[in-house]
Amino acid sequence: MNDHDVDDVAFLTSVNHYRTNGSQSGIHKRSLYEHGGVAICSQRKALIIAFIFLSVLFLASLIIAYFGPQNDCPCIGMKPMFLTEENGVNASRTVIPIATNGEIFPWNNLRLPTFVRPERYHINIHPNLTTLEVKGQTSIDFRVEKPTDYIVFHSKNLTIIEKILINRKNNEKIEITKILEYSAGQQMFIELDDELQKEENYTLVIKYTTRLGRELEGFYLSSYVTRSGEKKYLATTHFEPTYARSAFPCFDEPQFKAKFKMSILRDRFHISLFNMPIKSTDDIGFYMGTGLVRDDFYESVEMSTYLVAFVVCDYNHTHTKTSKGISVSVYAPTDLLPQANFALDTATKMMEHYEEFFGVPYPLPKQDLIAIPDFGAGAMENWGLITYRETSILYDAVETSAAAHQWVAVVVAHELAHQWFGNLVTMRWWNDLWLNEGFASFLEYLGVDHVMPGWSMMDQFILDKTQQGLHLDALSTSHPISVTVYDPVEIEAIFDSISYSKGAAILYMLEKFLSQNILRRGLNDYLNIHKYGNADTKDLWSVLSKHTNQTLEVKSIMDTWTRQMGFPLVSIRKENVTASTYLATQTRFLLTSDVPNITTIRQPSSPFKYKWYIPLSYYTDQTNFKNVETVWMNMTNITFEVDPKVAWIKANVNQSGYFRVNYSQELWDNLVVQLKKDHSVFSPADRANLLDDAFTLSRAGVVNVTLPLRLSMYLREERNYVPWATALEHLQNWSKYLSEATPYRMFQQYMKYLLEPIANEIGWDDTGSHLQKLLRSDILASAVLCEVEPVTTEAKNKFKKWMQEGVRISPNLREVVYTAGIKYGGVKEWQYCWARYNSTRVPSERKLLLKVLGSASDPWILQRYLLSTLNRDMIKPQDVKTVLGVVAANPDGQLQAWRHLKARWYTLQSLFGNGTFTMGGLITAVTSHFASDYDFREVSDFFRPMDVGSGTRALQQSLEMIQLNVYWVKQNEENIFQWLVNNDFKY
Ligand SMILES: *[C@@H]1O[C@H](CO)[C@@H](O)[C@H](O)[C@H]1NC(C)=O
Ligand SMILES: *[C@@H]1O[C@H](CO)[C@@H](O)[C@H](O)[C@H]1NC(C)=O
Repeated sequence: MNDHDVDDVAFLTSVNHYRTNGSQSGIHKRSLYEHGGVAICSQRKALIIAFIFLSVLFLASLIIAYFGPQNDCPCIGMKPMFLTEENGVNASRTVIPIATNGEIFPWNNLRLPTFVRPERYHINIHPNLTTLEVKGQTSIDFRVEKPTDYIVFHSKNLTIIEKILINRKNNEKIEITKILEYSAGQQMFIELDDELQKEENYTLVIKYTTRLGRELEGFYLSSYVTRSGEKKYLATTHFEPTYARSAFPCFDEPQFKAKFKMSILRDRFHISLFNMPIKSTDDIGFYMGTGLVRDDFYESVEMSTYLVAFVVCDYNHTHTKTSKGISVSVYAPTDLLPQANFALDTATKMMEHYEEFFGVPYPLPKQDLIAIPDFGAGAMENWGLITYRETSILYDAVETSAAAHQWVAVVVAHELAHQWFGNLVTMRWWNDLWLNEGFASFLEYLGVDHVMPGWSMMDQFILDKTQQGLHLDALSTSHPISVTVYDPVEIEAIFDSISYSKGAAILYMLEKFLSQNILRRGLNDYLNIHKYGNADTKDLWSVLSKHTNQTLEVKSIMDTWTRQMGFPLVSIRKENVTASTYLATQTRFLLTSDVPNITTIRQPSSPFKYKWYIPLSYYTDQTNFKNVETVWMNMTNITFEVDPKVAWIKANVNQSGYFRVNYSQELWDNLVVQLKKDHSVFSPADRANLLDDAFTLSRAGVVNVTLPLRLSMYLREERNYVPWATALEHLQNWSKYLSEATPYRMFQQYMKYLLEPIANEIGWDDTGSHLQKLLRSDILASAVLCEVEPVTTEAKNKFKKWMQEGVRISPNLREVVYTAGIKYGGVKEWQYCWARYNSTRVPSERKLLLKVLGSASDPWILQRYLLSTLNRDMIKPQDVKTVLGVVAANPDGQLQAWRHLKARWYTLQSLFGNGTFTMGGLITAVTSHFASDYDFREVSDFFRPMDVGSGTRALQQSLEMIQLNVYWVKQNEENIFQWLVNNDFKY
């Protein structure tokens, strides 16, 4: 799944790209547990007796569940309550599970028993897009690996009407003596009259009803408005990670792979889609009422439940074939179809590229990509039927910016990489989610780099992955990549920057020290060994070790990066003044280690004591970047020799390693001098890396705050996108932290001073390379925000001409022009853009407008805008986070956004169902740049009594970030002020 949305919001902090989708389970589940607690008090005695009795039964089943053949991993499955009293298992889980009918639910484990193996599903589904009723019948063919008289499977809020169990050998029914539902665990328990036997084949048939929901998960309703203003509905699915169970009863864990057959009943004027192509279509009007049609689909290959997808809609499609004859189509509302060509073309090339790169053919006959108007994530990799947010798939050559263009290519590449990494070979359990997402986030850049060689994707990689990962992972509230998760709330919470960005960044580092060839050969092997099956992290490392002929212990190296949180700070200095020996030491880097009284969670100890295997690459002024040396720090410090004439050393070449580097004062000074004299001796990625490290180290108090200021002075000469994008992010963050501090106005002057040369030179012709277009757009937009003249005047003029005379604006200039028009305009300008937001047929344009509408300066306008988030007909729930985020990032709207979040907390929550995860994203977007003690108290007091479910970590991270901001401003306000005064910057 692609989670994060493209972050081209100038003043939006990019720490958290959480998706706007949410979990159903948090609050719902908690209230049920509380109910259970009451029951226990009132019926205590009866329960104790029943409990002891059941415990015996239960123990027996668990012994099998835990020691059965499928359980080779000790982390799989939660231990039963009576075995783990002392093991610190979360108390709420030790509550006795009570079924909906009041009986004790006999299976007390969030994981299913592993002795029942589903082999084939046949799903019949009949959704009605008018009444929202869904009728379903699911047959599950399964076998058992030991005799049993019960089975347990997943079901979430399905009303079961009929259930039958058949022994397929003699076609005889086996009587079901009891069926129990445990809503909090989303499980059903079926007890049988007879024992099921090992050699036999069984089929469980369940007839049920449910309804199409409005939350963006399970089987849900979405809608769009046609050009002529008609509202059309579609029904679509989103199952990852744990929502398949709300559309059909199933064994909803990634390891239970099975084949899927599908039949969909629909109206004649709709079409239906599934992972596989249609085999036949029957008119069933005669039996079922007029106009009804049934599509039967071909059976799928073996796959996990979370990859199943089906859609009923009235779309059209555009279509082509790969050189191997696989059919590739893009589905969209008819009038948006012209915007689908780029995705179709890219997907086709990418499929061909991946088949070659992975050395494994794509196993399905078709690949459909479909635009879904209401979609929580960026996209979802369902095998053969990939669902996308509209902005992740539609591209208009005349209207879409280079950034949005690239976003489409990247998301298409991400989901297609999953067809192998994730779909063909799947993580055994969600604790290895990073295997899926880290790989797809890494391969998406490699893939686009291949298809679009002019886009410098690997330079941009460090911006979007390495730097994002390092940012979040430097907090004490981060977590290791490999993390133990059990319930849906916890699973939901690991779809974060750590799994995606850090995962991708450490794979990039791995590629660099293995070489792409070895990595690729290893991956081919890994995919072939585990295809149609499951694997975990250590399976991957062992294959890769084999391909280095065991010369590198890949597992030992990579365990230090995946099994402990955080990353090292490597400090480099001369061993003594005269010698040519340099010393590199490693310590864990924490942004907040100096902050007093920080309210952080207890720091877990690390199995590696926070030491890492680090491939330390470097060059010096005596060697230059064509002669890169690499030395290994094997969980230790090291010394190495360089030419005694060396003035500076640049380590972590191209920021390809996932760590930060600090230099001695003398080495930093020489780097600053070199940058000023001739920055081109460093690659753009290295310049970006120096900026990123210097700014970040000053945040942690490791270097003096004047270092990044001195170093950034060279930016007046910088003309490359990657260093500028890095610098702008830091400068704009500083500007936010300093917004109430003494040096704020002067700091704005400093930014202006840095931006002036490039802003005036880069001009208003929307031409040049892809990176130049990205650069122009970012530079001009930033210039307008700090009022660089004559850029601001020109932008305002262009807005006026556009609004009054309809003079067209080229796509990459729109952000700056719209921003200027709205920031310096009033209600008329805002209304004009709002009307355009509602009328344009181009999703990328809608998205841009959504962002710039938040840059208004008038509090009344901003308040209207915030209020529109409460009405799903004005702002779709999927876009609420963007709106709150842009208003919060606007210095004029920051406090209003926070007030809105507080005042409307429950209303906002109801928009996302019980989407606690989405709420976590909102907390970060609205609060994490606060920088005063008062605001810290406000935020912590407000949330103290609240259960924010899977948003808990986001809340902790925001609080840690605010405390850091407060401390940093207090420590550095005066220094920054003095430096700016000394360098002649004025208010
Ligand atoms: C369960 O489904 C019913 C309709 O089938 C719906 O009214 C109800 O809100 C759902 N409950 C939950 C907790 O999702
Ligand atoms: C849905 O219900 C409407 C109204 O009852 C009916 O006209 C339509 O044919 C139904 N569609 C399906 C697919 O059942």
